Amino acid sequence: MTTKITRRSAIASALALTACSQGAKSQPAVTPPPPLRTLTPFPIGCCVQERWLHEPEYADLLGEQFSQLTAEWEMKMEYILREDGGFKFDRPDSIASFAKARDMALHGHALIWYANENDAFKRLDGRGKPFADAYRNYILAVVGRYRGQARSWDVVNEPIADDGERLRDCLWSRNLGVDDHIALALEHAHEADPNAVLFLNDYHLELKPNKRATFMRLIERLLKRGAPLSGIGTQTHIDYDLPQGAVAEALRDLASFGLPIHLSELDISLGDHYLPALPGDRVKRQVAKYAEVAEAFMALPARQRFAFTIWGLRDDNTWLRGNSGQRPKDQPLLFDEAGKAKATCRALADVFGQRG
Ligand code: G3I
Repeated sequence: MTTKITRRSAIASALALTACSQGAKSQPAVTPPPPLRTLTPFPIGCCVQERWLHEPEYADLLGEQFSQLTAEWEMKMEYILREDGGFKFDRPDSIASFAKARDMALHGHALIWYANENDAFKRLDGRGKPFADAYRNYILAVVGRYRGQARSWDVVNEPIADDGERLRDCLWSRNLGVDDHIALALEHAHEADPNAVLFLNDYHLELKPNKRATFMRLIERLLKRGAPLSGIGTQTHIDYDLPQGAVAEALRDLASFGLPIHLSELDISLGDHYLPALPGDRVKRQVAKYAEVAEAFMALPARQRFAFTIWGLRDDNTWLRGNSGQRPKDQPLLFDEAGKAKATCRALADVFGQRG
């Protein structure tokens, strides 16, 4: 099933493409589009690390362009929970204050994650009630602290195993149950902040239909048991050559529950490459893919467009360059290393500006 690309977005991405037809060694900046946050009624988000907020140029570009923040890692257990069981809130507080000062929403990320099995919990492994009490206390403490500041939370991040066939085996599921640890986390978060929108968030839901199906069966089970799940996050870390229509199909499926959809961590990689210069077509296809993803999101009912979040501000901020060093020259984002808008930004702005 292919996505209907509207005439407008075809023109939009064609305009953007001409700006980068000279190849991609250094992508030329384009005529700066209007600030993204002015183009849509729903938040345009960006992930952030607290240390970057102290760079005035970074802070000003972030606040000018985006209307929602996600802490890239400093609101996760790996930062907040110390090995002695104490909490560290300095940087999360700083991020929350920055969001408030710049009139930005705050999305909490992430309470429970298989990749954050903290020593303070490992010491309670198998201990039954002490483990369960600590689990509840952690969630109540973190969500409670940002009540009224964080509009939403990724309550459980990446619950589905990479093979897409089952839920992950992790410290949380072994101690509290495969589905139960997720339902409990949602209940504790709801108890701490009844107004927060509570998400499950996962990746490759557009790339792996079997993983999406397993994720959707989990959502069905949680909703059936009355768990306070109130949003669905699809990270959308994709490559420039993801098959046409894959994102639209995933969003249509995920939207079938009628819940708000957060396109929560978008970046579009130019792929593994060690070439001195990128083949020019990769950038053109990446720009067109940004327009396609924006169109797919705009095809959702307006009430289900929770937020559209990019996983990083400038290309030098991307996790992809540092992530085991596979993609040291990647340019997956909207702004170049000098903070100049790229054709990828223009493509998004043209779709949101026409359809927002
Ligand atoms: O900044 C500190 C540095 O001072 C310290 O010396 C160093 C070694 O401890 O750590 C540095 O912090 C690292 C941080 O990234 C900033 O680079 C953390 O250890 C590291 O764990 C953290 O990695 C983040 C990762 O999630 C794990 O939390 C990545 O930035 C972040 O992009 C990545 O984001 C995830 C989403 O949460 C879930 N979806 C996938 C996505 C990409 O993996």
